[in-house]
Amino acid sequence: INITIIDRDGVSHSIEAPTDMAMNLMEVVRSYELAPEGTIGICGGMAMCASCQCYVLSDTPLPEKQDDEEAMLSEAFNVKDNSRLGCQIQMTPEMEGLKVELAPEE
Ligand code: FES
Repeated sequence: INITIIDRDGVSHSIEAPTDMAMNLMEVVRSYELAPEGTIGICGGMAMCASCQCYVLSDTPLPEKQDDEEAMLSEAFNVKDNSRLGCQIQMTPEMEGLKVELAPEE
């Protein structure tokens, strides 16, 4: 699917994200090297670091937040109403057109 990711320098990237590889949004960002190694996905996708926080800019339907994501976002910095943890968003075909911006590094 085609999605748009705005990196931490404000540069917009239109990329193809696979939906058949059980990849989450954090892993997609890493695979395209849109954030330097060591600044995203620090906890390995366990909803325990918030380094994968992003702001959802499109009205794309996304899975509901689970308790661990809610808990992490309640403690993280720079959290907005549209914040999500990228590692908790598994890429699916319904997410065509998703647009997100990476939150600043903490
Ligand atoms: Fe740590 Fe997502 S990678 S919370």
